[in-house]
Amino acid sequence: MPENIVLIAGATGAAASRLTEMVALTPGWRAVGLCRNPPAKAPSGDVRYIRTDFTSLDSCRAAVAGAGAVTHMVYAARAPFGEGGVEDVPGNVAMLRNLLDAVEVPSLRHVHLLEGGKWYGLHIGPMRSPTREDDPRHMPPNFYYDQQDLLAARRTGKTWTWSASRPQYLVDVEPGRARNLVTVVGAYAAICAALNAPFDFPGKPGSYTALTEVTDSTVLARFIMWCLSEPRAADQAFNITNGDMFRWSRLWPRLADYFGLPLGVVRTMPLDRWMADKAPVWRAIAERAGLRYPDIADVATWAYADFVWGIDWDIVSSMNRARLAGFQDLEDSEDQFIRHLDTYRQLKVLP
Ligand SMILES: NC(=O)c1ccc[n+]([C@@H]2O[C@H](COP(=O)([O-])OP(=O)(O)OC[C@H]3O[C@@H](n4cnc5c(N)ncnc54)[C@H](OP(=O)(O)O)[C@@H]3O)[C@@H](O)[C@H]2O)c1
Repeated sequence: MPENIVLIAGATGAAASRLTEMVALTPGWRAVGLCRNPPAKAPSGDVRYIRTDFTSLDSCRAAVAGAGAVTHMVYAARAPFGEGGVEDVPGNVAMLRNLLDAVEVPSLRHVHLLEGGKWYGLHIGPMRSPTREDDPRHMPPNFYYDQQDLLAARRTGKTWTWSASRPQYLVDVEPGRARNLVTVVGAYAAICAALNAPFDFPGKPGSYTALTEVTDSTVLARFIMWCLSEPRAADQAFNITNGDMFRWSRLWPRLADYFGLPLGVVRTMPLDRWMADKAPVWRAIAERAGLRYPDIADVATWAYADFVWGIDWDIVSSMNRARLAGFQDLEDSEDQFIRHLDTYRQLKVLP
């Protein structure tokens, strides 16, 4: 039996897929992934999946009973939501509460909660930047506040500790996950090329020039692993990004060069609307290039890009707390974006 058994709630999602792989491949650790639709093929290493519905306490109890002596839990699920809107507080809190009710076993040492930049109200309007973990909360609703308060209250008087991470937009190489800036940019560029259109930046002018940042899913996975076993991470929340920042106004010309497209202008075009008639264009591109996903819906969630590029204020997180506690990872977000595009091309997701 491994020394550490990590229950990962939402193991197949954007925030936790890389973590599940990383835990499974770490000697002495086992990942137990919980979700409603376990993958047909499990990643390599010590991992198993248990089909669970977090809206049901009985289902959560059955999952924990089947997981062995759970030492850690990572909660990375979310109730259904729409881009940029108010997310469901009662639904999200009930799901976490069901799992906490089920998981408070004597072997439990740590619970980690996924939060995000919306903690600071990035979806509402300009916020303080760089954001710091103790900045004042915005006016509710915000399900992260209720979830973190629930977790902190549950920890009182217990031997286990908690931590929380606040990543920004996640970037990753994950074929089939369309809510992803890398494939959105790649598909948009391919459509520009097919239609002889310039490579216009389709977001708001302020979004082109504002400072922004992303969190690579592998950085996030390493960070959560660190939280699970680092005493200095106990009982607090942390911003977690790649550790740098960028402006689309720097990256976009580099992307135009990369795709061999003429650089256009900032031309605000809500992509959900402007791409609505482009599915046949993508299908033709995919057929010509022998791509894996002929349906554009499997490659680009345009509404997600509209949300990201509709934000025309700085998004910068202070990484001081994590760095001063000892987490020092750094990725170059611009270089990494290009590397991820290369990988998607090799994987025949992008032309
Ligand atoms: N994605 C981002 O860019 C990003 C950025 C910052 C923060 N975050 C935060 O990270 C957290 C996770 O988000 P995500 O983007 O990873 O979500 P996601 O990709 O939609 O994944 C959600 C996961 O939860 C599972 N799930 C959802 N409802 C469930 C239920 N009722 N019972 C069991 N499993 C359920 C899903 O699997 P099944 O559908 O198979 O059940 C999936 O594994 C959220 O708090 C989010 O705000 C995300």
